[in-house]
Amino acid sequence: MIIKNVTVIGAGMMGNALAMVFAMSPDLNVTLRTRTLKDDRYDPIIAHLDIMVSRDVITGVQKEEVLSRITFETDLKKATENADFIIECAPEVMETKQDLFAEIENYCRKDAILATNTSVMSPTEIAAKCVNRERVVGAHFWNPGHLIPLVEVIKSDYTSDEVVELTMDVLRKAGKKPVLCKKDVPGFIANRMQHALWREAISIVENGIADAATVDEAVKYSFGLRLPQLGPMENADMVGTDLTFNIHDYILKDLESSKEPSPLLRELRDAGKLGFKTGSGFQEWTPESIKKSKQELTEYLIDMLY
Ligand SMILES: NC(=O)c1ccc[n+]([C@@H]2O[C@H](COP(=O)([O-])OP(=O)(O)OC[C@H]3O[C@@H](n4cnc5c(N)ncnc54)[C@H](O)[C@@H]3O)[C@@H](O)[C@H]2O)c1
Repeated sequence: MIIKNVTVIGAGMMGNALAMVFAMSPDLNVTLRTRTLKDDRYDPIIAHLDIMVSRDVITGVQKEEVLSRITFETDLKKATENADFIIECAPEVMETKQDLFAEIENYCRKDAILATNTSVMSPTEIAAKCVNRERVVGAHFWNPGHLIPLVEVIKSDYTSDEVVELTMDVLRKAGKKPVLCKKDVPGFIANRMQHALWREAISIVENGIADAATVDEAVKYSFGLRLPQLGPMENADMVGTDLTFNIHDYILKDLESSKEPSPLLRELRDAGKLGFKTGSGFQEWTPESIKKSKQELTEYLIDMLY
């Protein structure tokens, strides 16, 4: 099968970004399934594209071409019946995802691929109500989905090798960097590492070793600078497995190993200190500093990637 028609289900934060990503490829037609005609349809996609135009990543003409390859559809049957590749970006609720795929199977072609953009849930469990479970695969994008290249492709207990290959192919065609997660484990590959780091970072703050801003500075001015070029496995070889062994032998017993979210995190959550959402979290935020943080991230990513 050659994938030509891509359907994205759910026009929220990730769905809008993914529709744009697939439509960047001249070889793909994209249908974005929105739930109501009232959805603020083009605006988020246009906003992403406008930033790319203003930074000379794409031209104004290319922006219009991308938009012309996206069709909006509210009817789930019409949105999926001609699709080769369907990716759901519905809310992170197991039953919603299971029911959605089970319903889509009534409409879509027998060989259509059903991908889930779940952040943490098991694609094996998401496929539970499907008849053809070998066609269900995880395809975990990273926010902001239109910029971050990585997509983790997760092989469930049922996913066929062919479905994995076709999924990797269409993601490459859309300009992404797919990596294969061979086992369906919580957090897949990258979130396991990311949250091992966050657990330690929160623990350092909680134990008064450094405040939140200092923790972030310690990352940004040290191994954070190397990470885009040097991953942990190559780094371990670079310094030597003998040195890595000695460091781990000394330090691992002292690192945070709690199996529960930290009490400090729970306290902030319970006090309604939700971070950017409420202006207070590990640190204090104003509307201006929130805007600045988001804008600087977008500009940094565009500079790094293009
Ligand atoms: N936000 C992130 O950083 C991020 C990153 C990677 C993956 N994800 C995953 O992507 C998925 C979507 O996340 P989001 O942040 O875009 O959420 P969102 O709330 O912004 O969007 C969800 C969309 O799904 C629609 N929807 C609601 N119920 C539906 C249903 N029953 N059937 C179809 N569509 C329905 C909503 O109208 C909305 O447009 C989740 O599984 C999330 O875990 C999110």
